[in-house]
Amino acid sequence: MTTHDDTARAILRGNDRGGYTVPTAGLYPYQWNWDSAFAAWGFSTFDLPRAWDELDTLFSAQWDDGMVPHIIFHRDDPGYFPGPDVWGTGHVPATSGISQPPVAAILARLIWDRDRDLGEARIRALFPALRAWHRWWAEYRCGSGAAAITHPWESGRDNCPDWDIGMADVDGSNVGDYTRRDTGHVDPSMRPGKADYDRYLAMVQFGRGCGWDQARIVRDGPFLMADPGITFILLRAHDDLAAIGRALGEDVTEIEGWAADLRAGLETIWNPALGAYDARNLRDGEFAGVLGSGAFLAYLAGAERPELEQHLLRSWDAVKFGIPSADPESAIFESRRYWRGPSWPVVNALIALGLHSGGRPELEARLRRETRELITRGGFYEYFDPLDATPCGGADFTWTAAIWLTWASPSAGETLAQGAA
Ligand code: GLC
Repeated sequence: MTTHDDTARAILRGNDRGGYTVPTAGLYPYQWNWDSAFAAWGFSTFDLPRAWDELDTLFSAQWDDGMVPHIIFHRDDPGYFPGPDVWGTGHVPATSGISQPPVAAILARLIWDRDRDLGEARIRALFPALRAWHRWWAEYRCGSGAAAITHPWESGRDNCPDWDIGMADVDGSNVGDYTRRDTGHVDPSMRPGKADYDRYLAMVQFGRGCGWDQARIVRDGPFLMADPGITFILLRAHDDLAAIGRALGEDVTEIEGWAADLRAGLETIWNPALGAYDARNLRDGEFAGVLGSGAFLAYLAGAERPELEQHLLRSWDAVKFGIPSADPESAIFESRRYWRGPSWPVVNALIALGLHSGGRPELEARLRRETRELITRGGFYEYFDPLDATPCGGADFTWTAAIWLTWASPSAGETLAQGAA
């Protein structure tokens, strides 16, 4: 009998394109940054060398300034838009010009913990690249105190309501004609709308127009918002990278400094009127005023607060399956439109990692139970309707399979505890 574990492993193998894994065939035919780190974590449950290979391939596309791009276009695929020619970064291999949530150090530490001896040479080789990427975040993106994004796609939560106020300032009226490919793969009512897409492209065109000059994009680009999600991920990743470095006998003073600065900057994204961490438009200081799942990643960084926990429980109790990506009690909530309401196993797992570290085992157990139910009922889909568990988006999704193997499956055991120190 084929078990869910067998299916999950077959999905990872099936999406393996040789050293890297695509998120799902068709809709996402290249290597995506944070998907790939989750794929590595998934592979680590049954093929550790392959897990390390995945991270190596990701970092092989790192830019000279330290950035690790959000997409690596290893082989051209006409089924995806915007492809390498639209980004025009001039990199080899071709890549996009923005980054994505820096989960790699967090997951590399968990992967290393599975077999310290086998992983030591691999993590040692990776360490300088991870540190260079973290330095890029610290130097270019953390000037306001929290971590900033220059494109909503960088957040990994593409069209979540957090970005609406920043998006409203972007002029998408001059981007010219183009043909989207995503809506040919999945139901358009579950995807971002055309007005959003026009603006996404305007931001890409700005980056390309200035030769992807990072300082210029941060200073003059059409969009700059502080992202609670990346801020908490980066803070946890700094701490994990420092732990890795200490275990390797490296000097981690610089990394500890970035972590201390970022922790001190958390106050800048606390919105007292909302009683939660909130995205903030760095062009005018305005808060988004919406509760998003990025705020609940605070547990990952030990930055949770009682008021935030009340919001977590309230919005979670208003749905049935996992943490909704937008507030289910607000008017903007759409239970199936991508990041504007649905429950994402990958975010559930990150929040669970935080709940685990934050000493909330009963909440972690609930989240695990609900995520398990979503997958056993609906299959390994990209994301789910949190009200009725309808599977949505792409099928046979890499990170959903990875989350199954590492955390949601009954066979996963206690996988979230980290030992390296
Ligand atoms: C979408 C998601 C993003 C993910 C990518 C590939 O753009 O919003 O988080 O990395 O798809 O799965």
